[in-house]
Amino acid sequence: MERNELCWCGSGKKYKKCHMDFDQKLAVLKRQGYQIPTHQMIKTSEQIEGIKEAAVINNGLLDEIESKIHIGMTTNEIDKIAVNYLKAHDAISADLGYEGFPKSLCTSVNDEVCHGIPSDYALKDGDIINVDCTSGYHGYYADASRMFMLGNVSDEAKRLVEVTKECLDLATQSIVPFKTTIADIGRVIEPYANKNGYSVVREFCGHGVGLKMHEDPYVEHFDTKRKGMVLVPGMCITIEPMINQGERYLYLSDNEWTALTDDGKLSAQWEYTLLITDEGVEILSK
Ligand code: MF3
Ligand code: CO
Ligand code: CO
Repeated sequence: MERNELCWCGSGKKYKKCHMDFDQKLAVLKRQGYQIPTHQMIKTSEQIEGIKEAAVINNGLLDEIESKIHIGMTTNEIDKIAVNYLKAHDAISADLGYEGFPKSLCTSVNDEVCHGIPSDYALKDGDIINVDCTSGYHGYYADASRMFMLGNVSDEAKRLVEVTKECLDLATQSIVPFKTTIADIGRVIEPYANKNGYSVVREFCGHGVGLKMHEDPYVEHFDTKRKGMVLVPGMCITIEPMINQGERYLYLSDNEWTALTDDGKLSAQWEYTLLITDEGVEILSK
């Protein structure tokens, strides 16, 4: 691209005043053996504004669920909160109808690792649950999940939930634009989980997000031993580690969606939608 042409990012600025230095930095990193993101993975400022709006709604939905969740509530009733909240905010669930997924969010209880389908199951004292929401608003998407602990949760369950959150926060804070890679995320999470006696799920990963629920690149939460793709400003990704109390192995439920721990022990997950910025990282949805 020529210095005086309009920048590929759609800013309307000349290339030399916009992403020219950025592209030069990436070219250097590429020569050093790093994978570099495609232009498609770099969001324009207009797209970032849209994703932020979707994130405000997604956060509001999770807040609403947090304020209402209680022992005796069914996971279908949690789903109903999403249906109503999204409708009231002119938004949609990206989950509903996604490859045939039948509900508007995922509810994964105890040994369920992810993609739990809301049902007539009533939450009981001592349960831990992950609620994972992906809201779409005017064509933009944000994806996040939280754990909730119902009533008298065992110390072991509480520790799993806390350590899983620490895995996510440590990985988030470790990001340095133009320096750390996606593969470094797993190199932060896996040793920390293992040190605490836990294992990291490999079958499900974080992902690019924003114009769709799932975009490239994949974000593994374990050490792939690869150099990986550098993280640079404008990228929007999720980190969403699933951490198991016992072994990392899973099986798929008869419903063809829900993954469960093979050994029947607990699993926890937290997820953020992140924007990589010039300074570091901004948590858009949590
Ligand atoms: N929200 C999940 C994620 O973090 C995806 C849910 S897909 C669904 O990537 F089909 F189960 F809804
Ligand atoms: Co996700
Ligand atoms: Co999610």
